[in-house]
Amino acid sequence: MPAVLIRELENHVGEEITLRGWVTHLRSPGKIAFLVLRDGTGNCQAVASAKRIDAELFEGIKRCGQEASVELRGTVIADARAPGGFELSVSDFRLVGRSEAYPITPKEHGIEHLLDHRHLWLRHKGPWAVLRVRDEVVKAIRDFFYDRDFVLIDSPLLTPAACEGTSTLFRTDYFGDPAFLSQSGQLYLEPACQAFSKVYCFGPTFRAEKSKTRRHLTEFWMVEPEMAWVDLDDVMALAEDLVSYVVGRVLERRRSELEILERDLSKLEACGAPFPRLSYRDAAEILVRPESVARAEEAGAPPFTPGDDLGALDETILGEGYDAPLMIHRYPSKVKAFYMEPDPEDADLTLCVDVIAPEGYGEIIGGSMRIFDLELLEQRIREHGLPEEAFRWYADVRRYGGVPHGGFGMGLERVVAWLCGIHHAREAIPYPRTIQRLYP
Ligand code: 4AD
Ligand code: MG
Repeated sequence: MPAVLIRELENHVGEEITLRGWVTHLRSPGKIAFLVLRDGTGNCQAVASAKRIDAELFEGIKRCGQEASVELRGTVIADARAPGGFELSVSDFRLVGRSEAYPITPKEHGIEHLLDHRHLWLRHKGPWAVLRVRDEVVKAIRDFFYDRDFVLIDSPLLTPAACEGTSTLFRTDYFGDPAFLSQSGQLYLEPACQAFSKVYCFGPTFRAEKSKTRRHLTEFWMVEPEMAWVDLDDVMALAEDLVSYVVGRVLERRRSELEILERDLSKLEACGAPFPRLSYRDAAEILVRPESVARAEEAGAPPFTPGDDLGALDETILGEGYDAPLMIHRYPSKVKAFYMEPDPEDADLTLCVDVIAPEGYGEIIGGSMRIFDLELLEQRIREHGLPEEAFRWYADVRRYGGVPHGGFGMGLERVVAWLCGIHHAREAIPYPRTIQRLYP
């Protein structure tokens, strides 16, 4: 007889059915045993009474360890007091896989213990809810781009050169030559948008980030759209549409997971478009105000000087007072990547945008227009001390019919952490990789 999923119990009230799953809690005061069973689709309380089942079976149930896998037969009873609204009155029981001294007990564990046991922690309700939100975000992103005629172009993960600066490259040996794990698929998308007009890639990216912050992973997933024949306003409009769409999808389809995570939904509901826009120049003015300087001092953060890149606290200060993500555009060229197009109105600035999530979650999107003049690109490659030979193919995009083009990258884990309201991006990926962690 096929097993019923806990999610489907409402269709089986009064029937005798089989459930399969893992025992999350067991309580057996005397002649009765209460089991909470989890099957990945939900939780259900099962009740076994020594009066109604065989003595040996009853003893077997009482000896079940936390997270033992079991098969139960019983009758489904609707009971508003039971978690999920249903209870199973047990008539038969089979232990499938034993579990002894399970390392994650109901007592409080430190985060390092939980991360050391990430392979087991996945079974628990917090990580379960977060990873279901992640799954929804991924599907929403793919739907968003597919529905707007973007073609998926997977970019390579083994590459001969840097995209986002040479200091965070993971180097590996490629049959005697150096190769690097990709920091971004962008360089490979720029040629592709000249073949397909609108493209995107979505995959893992790697950065040997020495930073130990709650936003930095060494392996993270990034979705990167790239479009031909656009300007910075188009890039910003696409970023705004994408973020709004993803927030809407998660609110629509993963509400119960967000409730498990005790996420304040009103905060997410308030983040509709249009998103506020601020130029770097206006942002700098806010950051040099005495109250901002005092905030930085208080937090022991480095003081902001106009011309600097924005730090985490700067982004938090700027984002305060807005419900929706904040778009900061036109940063100084010297703090941004070599490929960014200068602002025709001020050559010291670039046509770029960062999107800052509300509630202190920081930068979730970085994007720009790309240089399309061949000579300027070659000059920037030299100025940044990059190997010209490794970028020859990239320069070809300008050599044969270059057009204005641009796009952005959105970090999946930072978005999921923000939507779920969890502190650290490492909990937004199934198996986190950080400067301190390569296990499990
Ligand atoms: O701003 P970044 O470095 O931009 C790029 O890589 C561009 N090539 C993208 C493009 O234009 N196609 O990274 C983009 C986003 C950041 O806004 C952030 O969300 C995420 O990627 N990100 C990280 N997420 C987790 N851990 C890290 N170490 C991250 N570094 C960047
Ligand atoms: Mg960035």
